[in-house]
Amino acid sequence: MPTDYASFLHAMAQVPTPVTVVTTRTSDGHRYGFTASAFCSLSARPPLILVCLAKTSSCHPAFTRTGSFMVNLLAEDHQEVARAFARGGQDKFTDSTMTECELGLPGLPDAAARLACTTHAVLDGGDHSILVGQVERTAVLEQQPLVYHNRQFVGTRPHAMATT
Ligand SMILES: Cc1cc2nc3c(=O)[nH]c(=O)nc-3n(C[C@H](O)[C@H](O)[C@H](O)COP(=O)(O)O)c2cc1C
Repeated sequence: MPTDYASFLHAMAQVPTPVTVVTTRTSDGHRYGFTASAFCSLSARPPLILVCLAKTSSCHPAFTRTGSFMVNLLAEDHQEVARAFARGGQDKFTDSTMTECELGLPGLPDAAARLACTTHAVLDGGDHSILVGQVERTAVLEQQPLVYHNRQFVGTRPHAMATT
């Protein structure tokens, strides 16, 4: 008997995850993006990563047909960007500083890292699709990354030791 939905979500909330904004551009020039914490490295040779996208997302059809996408790894001061790209029903790019980056894909100039990918596979993952990307270009700024844990954003900058 599998665990119940609420217990599963509660257990998964204990896992600290990176926060990314994944973007793509369709042939008519329309940009799509969503905040994703279900992101990880998959293979080094060839260089593959994966990101999971809910099948109910309005951007799901775009990501499964464009053939390329960008993973923007957010830095610790990108909480507002994370929130903006998690909101449905609006143009998420209006207030963002996204510009055309590697492979002509929308990217954040000050992301901790950008991974520009061609779509290697789209796999079934229950109520999500698993987008497997072959990494074609990378850019790294070595910022402190934004982390999501227990349904909150947390910084990773080491705290100064308290002095008395
Ligand atoms: C911190 C955080 C992490 C998220 N991670 C994911 C994820 O890994 N996969 C996913 O499909 N949605 C994730 N979401 C929710 C999506 O960002 C949100 O449902 C999406 O932007 C909706 O896209 P739409 O406007 O195209 O429907 C996350 C939201 C937040 C705030």
